[in-house]
Amino acid sequence: MSNYHIKHLEEYFQVYRKSVRNPEGFWEEVAEEHFLWRKKWNSVLEWDFSKPEIKWFDGAKLNITENCIDRHLSIRGDKTAILFEPNDPNEPAEHITYHQLHERVCRYANVLKDQGVEKGDRVVIYLPMIPDLAIAVLACARIGAVHSVVFAGFSSTALATRINDCGAKMVLTSDGSYRGSKAIDLKGIVDEALKQCPDVKSVLVSKRTGSEINMKEGRDQWVQPLLDKAYADCSPVVMDSEDPLFILYTSGSTGRPKGMVHTTGGYMVYTAYTFKNVFQYKEEDIYWCTADIGWITGHSYIVYGPLANGATTVMFEGVPSYPDFGRFWDVVQKHKVTQFYTAPTAIRALAKENLDFVTKYDLSSLKVLGTVGEPINEEAWHWYNDHVGDKKCPIVDTWWQTETGGILISPIPYSTPTKPTYATLPMPGIQPALMDENGKEIKGNQVDGRLCIKFPWPSIARTIWGNHERYKDTYFSAIEGKYFTGDGALRDEVGYYRITGRVDDVIIVSGHNLGTAPIEDAINEHPAVAESAIVGFPHDIKGNALYGYIILKETGEYRNRENLAKEINQLITEHIGPIAKLDKIQFVPGLPKTRSGKIMRRILRKIASKDTSNLGDTSTLLNPEVVEQIMKESL
Ligand code: PRX
Repeated sequence: MSNYHIKHLEEYFQVYRKSVRNPEGFWEEVAEEHFLWRKKWNSVLEWDFSKPEIKWFDGAKLNITENCIDRHLSIRGDKTAILFEPNDPNEPAEHITYHQLHERVCRYANVLKDQGVEKGDRVVIYLPMIPDLAIAVLACARIGAVHSVVFAGFSSTALATRINDCGAKMVLTSDGSYRGSKAIDLKGIVDEALKQCPDVKSVLVSKRTGSEINMKEGRDQWVQPLLDKAYADCSPVVMDSEDPLFILYTSGSTGRPKGMVHTTGGYMVYTAYTFKNVFQYKEEDIYWCTADIGWITGHSYIVYGPLANGATTVMFEGVPSYPDFGRFWDVVQKHKVTQFYTAPTAIRALAKENLDFVTKYDLSSLKVLGTVGEPINEEAWHWYNDHVGDKKCPIVDTWWQTETGGILISPIPYSTPTKPTYATLPMPGIQPALMDENGKEIKGNQVDGRLCIKFPWPSIARTIWGNHERYKDTYFSAIEGKYFTGDGALRDEVGYYRITGRVDDVIIVSGHNLGTAPIEDAINEHPAVAESAIVGFPHDIKGNALYGYIILKETGEYRNRENLAKEINQLITEHIGPIAKLDKIQFVPGLPKTRSGKIMRRILRKIASKDTSNLGDTSTLLNPEVVEQIMKESL
């Protein structure tokens, strides 16, 4: 049992050593003792990073919803599984017990079956943070359909791209969504997207805002009447451990978004295990992760990880600033939240406001605080520690990725001494390595390099949907025999890891992973634009913001640069979503390029960050005069 729940540092080291010496034995023990399998595996792990092929618990049979719901019914059926806190604080919270969750998931699963959804079919879910989102996710898993949740802040074009990429025939959405004081016309966005998705035959609509929407005859149906009629029990489809559970899209540095495929058995074991340890979860806790289920954090640590442990997981529909900047703390006090998990960008935004927004609430229920999604700066860390945690709650700075499925590097609270800005130590089973430019491992401490993982863990993504070659190229080709994360990291004198940021062209803005290429593609659609390059620059709240360098085709026609900048941001909003808007736009006569025609983003990054004292090696630069001019006119 001690393998499953680490309680002090010495135990962590023991468990870690064991997990590295014998990973198969370690994970087999965890899997055997804590989960419900219809049939055990033939082999714990088969892997070959050169193909790459990774299989965990191959041959085992299970259904993840049986683990997340059914097996809790006899022991904690009346316990709250999902605690829904609406956008409007005056609307009552909804406590959905495990019994009720079972019934609602079963009904939803039966509706999906009635609509012809079968095992292996992809279903796109474009829903706001309302209970139907979690229920729809679990309903898909119940019948073996592969869910692909698209964050409901993405634009119609981004939604259409994802629907078409995964070949979904069904979309689940709502009439609208609330975001603070605003209501958003989600169904309108779906209608727009579906103009480009001829294969979608059916759309099920949850009612949330009650706004007038268009229902297309023969395609769109309100889901509630169907749920009311559906049978309240649905036996789970028995899945293979390696059957796909979901596809979740993430930005790449180039090209289209990558549909990361996560499979069933390993993902379940790893997310449940890390949830238990990273949050030191105990039966009576009220756990709250503020992420959206449209991101991996929500999949693993709002839905699957907590429910697999029989936890009460808070689902929050709103935003941190509505009705005022005290909303998070109001919710913590109201529900006596014990673990609180959020993004550094939210902490930075709240730390800028009056401290009264925090101090007027009783936060004494809190035991563990967490962050995820981007590096946390020292100032934000201390504000979180001092004012939210009252210096009594360990902060878990959890490093991981959509691709990793679960947390890979994080302190274990009350075991690992924390250190501001450090994600600290690897989880059991995780073998990090730092590599130099030539792909050689850098051993020892007080070093930095590119972060790789040497050995598979159960929740690693198995492929990119429809493009295994790209999966291989992106993650397994940069450094032979290892999974390459795309991040840089340093290891301090005691072996703690600190993530220093992306080493590729992905930019993390407010914790959202954005690729430069799709943004540049959107900008380049503007008739006045000849070429563009996007880089990140440091921003107080967002961590990074976007700086666009844009070459115009013709200056005469577009004299009003301000309007042009607005039009460009509008295009980005339409193609990707408002999260990808540029904070600064500089119109430039040219872009710094190498002789082979590659844009030297390193130089652009330095200019955007106002760090031009040393531009580094510019000997391969084709057009140094352009750099001079860009620097002179920089914003
Ligand atoms: O650069 C790292 C950063 O977020 C990237 C992964 O983004 P995404 O797939 O959207 O998943 C975010 C939620 C798991 C990583 O490559 N990142 C994530 N967590 C941290 C982080 N950077 C620093 N510290 C973290 N704790």
